[in-house]
Amino acid sequence: MSTPAIKQATLREHTRIHGLGIYRPSVVVTNDDVCQWIDSSDEWIRQRTGIVTRHRAPRDVSVVDMAEAAAREALADAGVEPSQLGAVLVSTVTHPLATPSAAAQVADRLGATPAPAYDISAACAGYCYGIAQADALVHAGSADYVLVVGVEKLSDFIDNGDRTISFILGDGAGAVVIGPSESAGIGPSVWGSDGSKHEAIRMSHSLLDIRDYSLAAAAGGNAPAEAAEARAALWPTMRQDGQTVFRWAVWEMAKVAQQALDAAGITSDDLVAFVPHQANIRIIDEMVKQLKLPEHVQVARDIVDAGNTSAASIPLAMHRLLKEQPSLKGGLALQIGFGAGLVFGAQVVVLP
Ligand code: UT7
Repeated sequence: MSTPAIKQATLREHTRIHGLGIYRPSVVVTNDDVCQWIDSSDEWIRQRTGIVTRHRAPRDVSVVDMAEAAAREALADAGVEPSQLGAVLVSTVTHPLATPSAAAQVADRLGATPAPAYDISAACAGYCYGIAQADALVHAGSADYVLVVGVEKLSDFIDNGDRTISFILGDGAGAVVIGPSESAGIGPSVWGSDGSKHEAIRMSHSLLDIRDYSLAAAAGGNAPAEAAEARAALWPTMRQDGQTVFRWAVWEMAKVAQQALDAAGITSDDLVAFVPHQANIRIIDEMVKQLKLPEHVQVARDIVDAGNTSAASIPLAMHRLLKEQPSLKGGLALQIGFGAGLVFGAQVVVLP
């Protein structure tokens, strides 16, 4: 008997970003605030990282709350209804539960049910990984519109006294809606990983000791007292070998960015903007130099205000750039994310 032919989804030629939204938490933490907890100075932090302030979400604002706020703004900007979403992707490493995902809750709150929903764990490359997946889903005809959210509440996973990373990190969320397009709006993704350097940035924790606390928190109740104590002692916090990551970012990421330009079939002359992950202003400046970006290319430096918000940093930085210079809309931007894994992702996009 011959195998009956089955239908396959109809492929789509082009995709683009239809809308962008963000959530910037209200609490501003200055360098002087940070210096109460670590032996540092406002001058050192500005010179070595470019950071002047970072934002932190209030205690009662969760990753899901921030993601929902940014997503609502992105949907409104795109003119897309939640019911039109064919998938909800949330890139984050700071949702306190490994499962269920933040994405399923976000989809429910938006009214996007029964859209498939899942989280992406790719740290500071999470947003670019999300764009790569959303782009592929729309191309493949698996979804009409896909919501991609990059969101972090890193303040929940900071040891304030850790001088290697605590002063860099901030909270926030950014979201985009990806969908069909009449012309090419997202270039091929150049993405990858190098797990041999998995120890360079990590969130270390003891699963057993945080289990009771997490379960109680998820159920909306109060954690048992002894579990709260365990949390204080063993709650996971971010750690990094700053120099290893710095060197890798400076030497390897400019090459990846160049590959994304090549894959899109353009040169840096064709860009209006460069929106790299906001890890350190010296990394951004070095990449600009290595890529030999022309003067007219506007470089996102949201890090000065927002610090490093991991998966949220690119959409937050893009939003600021477009708010300050609306004439960039419709132009080509190069975006690149990189971080714990180590992982990286880059693509050229048409600015929404
Ligand atoms: O988002 C994911 C990707 N993450 C990154 O890309 C982070 C990449 N790394 C970095 O941004 C930088 O490595 C840091 C900002 C974390 C550190 O800057 P650095 O220029 O690499 O500092 P360093 O570790 O080489 O230390 C230089 C000096 C040392 O003093 P001595 O030995 O020269 O006297 C450190 O003790 O700076 C000192 N130092 C500090 N001083 C004040 C290190 N951290 C601090 C600090 N405040 N927080």
